[in-house]
Amino acid sequence: MHTNRLGVVLSRLLVSVTRASVSSTLFSGASNSLEVIRNGSVLVTDDRITSVYAGTSPPSPVSVPSDVEEVDVTNKIVTPGFVDTHHHGWQTAYKTIGSNASLVDYFNRFGEFLTAQFYPFDRDEVYYSQVAGLYEALNAGVTTTLDHAHHTFSNSTSGSKPPSTAAPASNYTIQEQFVNHRAIASNALYSGTPTTLGIVYGSFGPNPNTSIVSTILDLIRESNASVLTTHSVQGPFGITNSPEDFSALGLFDSLPPTTPLPHAQLLRQHNHTISITPESEMHYGHTNPTSHLIQDFASIGVDTHFTFSTDILTQTRLWLQSVRRLLYSQVLDRWEVPVNSPMSANQAFLLATRNGGLSLRREDLGVIAPGAKADLVIWDGASPDMLGWRDPVAAVILHANVGDVEGVLVDGKWKKRDRKIVDDKYGEVRERFLEVARWIQERVIAKGEGIGLPQEGERFQSGFEFGNTSVVDVVPHDEADDRYGGLFL
Ligand SMILES: *[C@@H]1O[C@H](CO)[C@@H](O)[C@H](O)[C@H]1NC(C)=O
Ligand SMILES: *[C@@H]1O[C@H](CO)[C@@H](O)[C@H](O)[C@H]1NC(C)=O
Ligand SMILES: *[C@@H]1O[C@H](CO)[C@@H](O)[C@H](O)[C@H]1NC(C)=O
Ligand SMILES: *[C@@H]1O[C@H](CO)[C@@H](O)[C@H](O)[C@H]1NC(C)=O
Ligand SMILES: *[C@@H]1O[C@H](CO)[C@@H](O)[C@H](O)[C@H]1NC(C)=O
Ligand SMILES: *[C@@H]1O[C@H](CO)[C@@H](O)[C@H](O)[C@H]1NC(C)=O
Ligand SMILES: *[C@@H]1O[C@H](CO)[C@@H](O)[C@H](O)[C@H]1NC(C)=O
Ligand SMILES: *[C@@H]1O[C@H](CO)[C@@H](O)[C@H](O)[C@H]1NC(C)=O
Ligand SMILES: [Zn+2]
Repeated sequence: MHTNRLGVVLSRLLVSVTRASVSSTLFSGASNSLEVIRNGSVLVTDDRITSVYAGTSPPSPVSVPSDVEEVDVTNKIVTPGFVDTHHHGWQTAYKTIGSNASLVDYFNRFGEFLTAQFYPFDRDEVYYSQVAGLYEALNAGVTTTLDHAHHTFSNSTSGSKPPSTAAPASNYTIQEQFVNHRAIASNALYSGTPTTLGIVYGSFGPNPNTSIVSTILDLIRESNASVLTTHSVQGPFGITNSPEDFSALGLFDSLPPTTPLPHAQLLRQHNHTISITPESEMHYGHTNPTSHLIQDFASIGVDTHFTFSTDILTQTRLWLQSVRRLLYSQVLDRWEVPVNSPMSANQAFLLATRNGGLSLRREDLGVIAPGAKADLVIWDGASPDMLGWRDPVAAVILHANVGDVEGVLVDGKWKKRDRKIVDDKYGEVRERFLEVARWIQERVIAKGEGIGLPQEGERFQSGFEFGNTSVVDVVPHDEADDRYGGLFL
C-alpha cells in the first residue's frame, strides 16, 4: 500500500519522542523512480519514518502525536542519508600523510599488512581513529557505513569481548581470526545496536586457498554475516577477487568464454554488487574500466579516506562527472559533437542513497518512505551555493558541499544539528583522536618514507613490472630538480 518514495521533502519534519509502538510495515517493490515532494512532511517515530505526505495534514489513519517535536524545514531540502559501501575507518589517524601516495606507496607505508608489520595500532588507537572517522562521515550526511575493517592486527584491535589487553602482534593468524569472529558473533556484541557483523576477505582470486574460502562460507552462515566484502583492483595490479574468480570457485555460474563483460553478467545473474570508490580509483590509478556499465548493481564508497575526501557527496560528484567525461570522449574520439548528457544528477543521487541500501540488502536504508529507517539529512537551501535552486536533487548533487549539511538524524536521533555534531561523546573523541593521530603519524614518519620502496629489478606481487608516471609541474621548470618537468612545456 505504500508508494516507494525517494527523496526530498520540504516544510516539516516531525520527530516523535514518544515510545509508542513503531509501525514495522516495510514498503515493497523496487521501483527506483525518484519522487520529489514539495511542501510535504515526514513523521518520524522512534527509529523509523512512519509517514510521508504532501502538505501538513497526515493522511488518515496516521495521527501526529501531541508531544511530537516539530522542526520547520521550509526552504530546506531533506534527503535520505548517504550510504557509504566501502571505508577503512581505522585509517583516519593517517590523515594527510598520504597525499601524494601511489598505490605502491600505500601498500608499502599505510596498508594493513605494512601497518601490522611496522607500527601496529593498539586497541585505543583503532577505536579513536575509527570513531573519529565515523563522526567525520556523519558530519557529511553519511548515515550508513560499510567498514571494511582490516585493522585485524590482533585480538585486541579486532573487537573481541571481553577485550584482550594483549599488545598488538603482527602474526595474527587467520585461524585466530576465525575463533575471534565466532566469539564476537556468539557474544551478540552488536545486538540492540545499529551495527551488524560482516566478513571481509581479500583472497578469493587469483589462486585462492579453497579450505580458507570454505571456512569463510561456513562462518557467513553460522554468524548470519550481513555482508561479505572484498577488494578488486584489476589490470597489472592483479588483485582480482572478481566474479570470474567466484565462478572458478564454483560459487557463481560459469559463462561461455565468449560472453561479453562476464563480470557484469555474473554480478547481475547472482544479484551481487560493486562499490565504486571514485576518488580512490583516480588517486591511485586503479583500473576497473567497466564500472560505469554496471551501475544498476553498484553503489558508492570511499576507501582510504586519509588520502582524500571522506564524504559521499564529493565522491558521487566526481563519479558523475568522470562518467560524463568518459562517455563524451567516446563520441569526441569519432570527431562527433555530443548532443545529450550521459548520466543525470538523479542517477547519481540514487547511486549514493538507494543503491547503497539495496547493496546491503537493506530495503529500509537510503530512502524516505514509511517503514524506512529515519536516517535523514537536512540541507540549508539558503546557503550562498544552494540559493536559487529549483531542482533539489541537482542542488544537492552539483551545488552543495558538506558545509550545507545543517542536520543529520540516524535512527531518528539527532547526530548533527545547527551544523554541530550533538553527540555528548564527540568532545572526548576529538581530544583522544588528536593524541592518537599525532603519535601514529610520528611513528610512520620516524620509520621513514623509503620503507619498502621497490628495488631495482623487483616486480609487483602480481608479477608485473613497476613503472614511473610522467610528473607535471605547475611552476616554471627548474633544471636542477629532475622530479619535475616531464609534462611541463
Ligand atoms: C509551497 O509553499 C509555498 C509557500 O508556502 C508556496 O508559495 C508554493 O507554491 C508551494 N509549492 C507547492 C509545490 O505547493
Ligand atoms: C608530496 O610531494 C612533494 C614533492 O615531492 C613533497 O614536497 C611533499 O612532502 C609530499 N607530501 C607528502 C605528504 O608526501
Ligand atoms: C612474525 O613472524 C615472522 C616470521 O614468522 C617473524 O619474523 C616476526 O618476528 C614475527 N613478528 C612478531 C611481532 O611476532
Ligand atoms: C583471542 O580471542 C579468542 C576468542 O575470543 C581467544 O580464544 C584467544 O585466547 C585470544 N587470544 C589472545 C592472544 O588473546
Ligand atoms: C590453506 O590455508 C590453510 C590454513 O591457513 C593452510 O594450513 C594450508 O596449508 C593452505 N593451503 C595451501 C594450499 O596453501
Ligand atoms: C543466525 O540466525 C539463526 C536463525 O535466524 C539463529 O537461530 C542463530 O542463532 C543466529 N546465529 C547467530 C550467531 O546470530
Ligand atoms: C536483489 O537484491 C535486492 C536487494 O536486496 C532485492 O531488492 C532484489 O529483489 C533482489 N533481486 C533478485 C532478482 O533476487
Ligand atoms: C622511477 O624513478 C626513480 C627516480 O628517477 C628511479 O630511481 C626508479 O628506478 C624508477 N623506477 C622505475 C621502475 O623505473
Ligand atoms: Zn579499500
